[in-house]
Amino acid sequence: MSSNLYVPGLEGIVATQTGISMVDGENGRLVYRGCWAKDLVIGHSFEEAAYLLWHGRLPDSKELVQLKETLQTHRVLPVSIVRLIEALPPDLDVMSALRTIISGMGGNFQAWPPTIDDGIRLTAAVPTIIAAVYRRSKGLPAVTPDPKLDTVAHYLYLLTGTAPTPSQVAAMSAYGILTMEHGLNASTFAARVVTSTASDLASAVCAAIGAMKGPLHGGAPSEVLSMLDEIGTKSKAEPWLRERLERGERLMGFGHRVYKTRDPRAEALRTVTASLTSDDPWLDLAVHVENTAIRLLEEYKPGRRLYTNVEFFAAAVMRSVSMPAELFTPTFTASRMVGWTAHIVEQAANNRIFRPQSTYTGTLPE
Ligand code: CMC
Repeated sequence: MSSNLYVPGLEGIVATQTGISMVDGENGRLVYRGCWAKDLVIGHSFEEAAYLLWHGRLPDSKELVQLKETLQTHRVLPVSIVRLIEALPPDLDVMSALRTIISGMGGNFQAWPPTIDDGIRLTAAVPTIIAAVYRRSKGLPAVTPDPKLDTVAHYLYLLTGTAPTPSQVAAMSAYGILTMEHGLNASTFAARVVTSTASDLASAVCAAIGAMKGPLHGGAPSEVLSMLDEIGTKSKAEPWLRERLERGERLMGFGHRVYKTRDPRAEALRTVTASLTSDDPWLDLAVHVENTAIRLLEEYKPGRRLYTNVEFFAAAVMRSVSMPAELFTPTFTASRMVGWTAHIVEQAANNRIFRPQSTYTGTLPE
């Protein structure tokens, strides 16, 4: 079958079928395996949502305990991997370090087809790697794992050495649930392409991390925070945003390939942030910048339907838990591991190698 259809960025092209999630861009809806993602934030833990994505249904209490135990067991890194972290250049950015360390763990993830259990084992290790790399870059010793803490609380604990407050855990759990999966985004697609060659799980995850690192994908929230810091006060918002749009620059935290209305994840995260920091003038500024930017984007880019995406209020959540900006993208990665590994297993279970066509635009030989 051959077609000369070329769509830059594959916009609107269906490249796979999936039972994992549905992103409804026209209506601003996100479904994880038959459940509204925004509803999972209320009364469900990170582990329950992860179980749903990995196994296709919510766990019963025994299954939840088992998953938590597996995650706890595999969050402890083998000595050889700790040594590998110690051998990295101390100034290497966390995403590059994470990609390198997962490569180093590849020997334990060679089995074909990859399984959900493999995915859970690798997902469990990621927060520990991020925390160890980050603390080392600051000249701090790694924190000893605490088996009593669940995934989200444990991640925050590993970063700081202090147990987080319940409201910090609630904010980060909501963030983790809302960012763990999102259809065929660039990093998930990269993971599925690598898997389609019958390559191993760690290689597919490394490809996904490389895609996630880019500022158009997972690298936006730290730039959102810089933007809000630079704007500083409500009165400066409109001139600041206009100046950027006049120069043809993109506003970080706005626009989405699929959502042509408000991103439901941004909506849910705005509610979470508001419940935590309702009297914070910074949040007031963020909401003002959001409304001003949407109005100006319609003026400068009429008809493009540019709204806030998940990264805008992700920045607010990160700020509310005092997450350092250099850890925003790695933290997104730690939760997206769930979606990536679910997609890798789904791809492997019904595999056909990805091999699209290109149209030659060069000259022909004489
Ligand atoms: N600010 C200003 N203009 C924009 C923006 C923006 N944030 N996003 C899109 N546009 C304009 C763009 O200039 C283009 O205008 P024109 O038609 O005049 O050329 C039009 O809207 C369509 O843009 P596009 O580049 O064709 O859209 P895309 O679907 O290829 O890109 C995007 C999607 C998310 C990369 C883009 O909206 C963007 O760069 N946003 C800023 C970065 C950002 O916030 N990224 C996080 C995305 S959400 C998390 C994730 O999925 O990873």
